[in-house]
Amino acid sequence: MPVHTSSTSAPAAVLCGVAGWVPPRVVTNDELAERLDTDDTWIRTRTGIRCRHIAKPGQATSDLAVEAGRLALRNAGLDPAETNRGGTDPVDAVIVTTTTPDRPCPATAPAVAARLGLNGVAAFDVGAVCTGFVYGLATAAGLIASGVAARVLLIGADTYSTIVDPLDRANAIIFGDGAGAVVLRAGDEDEPGAIGHFDLGSDGTHEDLIMVAAGGSRGRSAEGEPTRAERHFAMRGNEVYRHAVTRMAASARATLTSAGWKTDDVDHFVPHQANLRILHSVADDLGLPRERCVANVDAVGNTGAASIPLALADAAARRVLRPGDRLLLTAFGGGLTWGSCLLTWPELPPPIRTHDPFVPHHTGDDTLS
Ligand code: COA
Repeated sequence: MPVHTSSTSAPAAVLCGVAGWVPPRVVTNDELAERLDTDDTWIRTRTGIRCRHIAKPGQATSDLAVEAGRLALRNAGLDPAETNRGGTDPVDAVIVTTTTPDRPCPATAPAVAARLGLNGVAAFDVGAVCTGFVYGLATAAGLIASGVAARVLLIGADTYSTIVDPLDRANAIIFGDGAGAVVLRAGDEDEPGAIGHFDLGSDGTHEDLIMVAAGGSRGRSAEGEPTRAERHFAMRGNEVYRHAVTRMAASARATLTSAGWKTDDVDHFVPHQANLRILHSVADDLGLPRERCVANVDAVGNTGAASIPLALADAAARRVLRPGDRLLLTAFGGGLTWGSCLLTWPELPPPIRTHDPFVPHHTGDDTLS
């Protein structure tokens, strides 16, 4: 497919579709408190989370990814059925970013592409834990800049309920399942929707802070059967908290500096929805009013790689994001990994709201009180 560019410079990646999808089942804090030694007040004051959506047994990450992907293609005005009618593929590549692939092998993206009617296009997974979506955006932008793809469907999808021990109160309260997707097309760097000025980083010396110990080649070469703890998601919450605030603020600042933006130029800060206290601390550190922080963590929890596109879809559906608004996206996750990028919001039809999990808003402090 020919790549559109109006100048001699490489084409920019321009956002032209967005959507989110969460499983219908809502699990409230009170419901968790029925089986775990916890309570709604503890969870709300520590994390800002009121409820999360959980996949039903048998529902895998690809199932969520297909739903979000289909809605994002529709939001972009693209029709996968076109391929079957002998037309060109609506996108040239499908990227799924996830920590919970359907299987260790193969990648989840080819099956997602096939189920979306996109069999034959490039399809692969990107893994950067909760930073996956920003890494995925950079990867998609690279495919577009190099001319390999003119349109890319990028899906962040995770089913943390499949790796978090349901009896682990420290983690079971934080995570939810969900998927969010965007469509990117080749365009010009100064048009609305253009994505640019990335900052990506990692620090693998802290890989032990967020980990599933078993299931990979390291675990398989260890002696004996893995323990229950090794088979499940483990996180050193206190240390992660401190790294998250520091790394996200530094990454956001580096990105603003490289673009020549001042903090006040940011209309909406859209961080990875780790936990409302982390989001507020980062906003405070940057000198951004908390009201500019887009958050839906109270309604969906931490959905891993899905969290930023879900937050974008939510805010777009509520028409909080207006064409021309300037956005700063910042993520942090296991690895450790972190990343940021800038985006000017384009004119888009409001994404379809398939459920009504999306109570919020820009954040105030009420959830934490
Ligand atoms: N309900 C009630 N008590 C709980 C609990 C729960 N769900 N989970 C832990 N506790 C207890 C602990 O056992 C501990 O008890 P103790 O003092 O008797 O030992 C106490 O609460 C304090 O634990 P601590 O881990 O210090 O709590 P915290 O204030 O740091 O909050 C987190 C825990 C996980 C909410 C917090 O560390 C955090 O938000 N970390 C970042 C996690 C995150 O966002 N990760 C994603 C990054 S991508």
